[in-house]
Amino acid sequence: MAWTSFPVSKLQGAIRAPGDKSCSHRALMFAGIAEGTSDISGLLEGEDVINTAKAMAALGAETEQKGGGRWTVKGVGKAGLTSPASALDFGNSGTGSRLMLGLMAGYPLEARLVGDASLSRRPMNRVIKPLEQMGARFDHDGRGMLPLTLHGSASLNPIDYVPEHASAQVKSCVLLAGLNAQGTTRVTEHRPTRDHTEKMLRGFGVDLDVVNADGTRSVVSIEGGQTLQAVDTQIPGDPSSAAFLIAAGLISPAGGVMVEGVMSNETRDGFFRAAAMMGADIGAEELGDAAGERLIDMQAVGSGLKGRAIPTDLVPAMIDEFPILAVLAAFAEGETRVSGAHELRVKESDRIAAVVAMLRVNGVEVEEHEDGFTVQGCGGPPPGGGLVETHHDHRIAMSALIMGTASQKPVSIDDAAMIATSYPDFMAHMASLGADIRNA
Ligand code: S3P
Repeated sequence: MAWTSFPVSKLQGAIRAPGDKSCSHRALMFAGIAEGTSDISGLLEGEDVINTAKAMAALGAETEQKGGGRWTVKGVGKAGLTSPASALDFGNSGTGSRLMLGLMAGYPLEARLVGDASLSRRPMNRVIKPLEQMGARFDHDGRGMLPLTLHGSASLNPIDYVPEHASAQVKSCVLLAGLNAQGTTRVTEHRPTRDHTEKMLRGFGVDLDVVNADGTRSVVSIEGGQTLQAVDTQIPGDPSSAAFLIAAGLISPAGGVMVEGVMSNETRDGFFRAAAMMGADIGAEELGDAAGERLIDMQAVGSGLKGRAIPTDLVPAMIDEFPILAVLAAFAEGETRVSGAHELRVKESDRIAAVVAMLRVNGVEVEEHEDGFTVQGCGGPPPGGGLVETHHDHRIAMSALIMGTASQKPVSIDDAAMIATSYPDFMAHMASLGADIRNA
């Protein structure tokens, strides 16, 4: 069902950032295998995370939704995860499915994994390959995609793994399998990716070693056979969701947007650093911490943006933010060039193609490259007036609606239902800031 975002003269207000999606998945998974009962607050109750909660329950954890983002999870502890009675449905979530494969691989269980049309087109070979090296087995149709069946093993071999892609999902999958392997599993990264698995496992009492070798790579080692201990924890606010609100403030002709309780983590803040390079006026104030992460309040006001070449070393720290960066680039003066971001081709949609089409249909000049795109900024509000094909991608949908708040003509999207996978309160939050987004 189509939705349209109409231009408004100002956006103003303060929003509490929703719980971080990456941390929410991990908190449920780790609590689900821990010894004892964990109390989690601020959990993101988006569809992706709910699917992870259902999967953990189907594998033996006792999950209870207390309301308002509070959950308790009684973990299986030493008894271990057991085969689910029916297929585990991960919906739209690459993170849920790939991390869970690693988590389950070290138990003697059998599990069938399914997902929606988008997830069933995304590559799973990147996790199947290391897990097979460790001794897990898979049944699939040869394409290395969902649906597939995992045969786990209680006697996984540890491995030394260097992922082919800069991917926190692959790193995390291997480390989680390593938790139940017989010896030390190591993952070496040349471009650091988000470190929530490492930080949160430590919070659950796991001993894990991270060494930054020669400043060019980091090596994470985990000893198999460790038991996690339940915790009481608070999920920090999601910088990827905050990026949409901050961008809305930056392109708004007047007003100002504040986002409270955002996780400040240098493996996740690439968008804010890129926006600052483009001239964005973003303020930050320390708030405290949650689950071992720093929290900040962020503020954005309308800013004259200038196009920039985005440094490729920022890519992993802003891997989910390129659709909204492209919106900033459309409003900026001059050229913005994104390169070294080939991974965007295998996200919830082919995000390079989807971003290029989103801008073009709204009158913005943009060139597509194999590993990125180049936007010729409009030096102010872009024409708008287009109907954007979202390809079932929540971040394309939200980016297009943000663009419509300040473009010359309204911007429409073909569907908004999938926004609930990561940011169920998005429409309500935008309305409270003064956006005019209608189901029309
Ligand atoms: C995630 C890692 C990223 C990111 C995804 C969440 C995670 O994927 O795009 O939204 O929670 O580990 P890759 O690690 O595959 O780049």
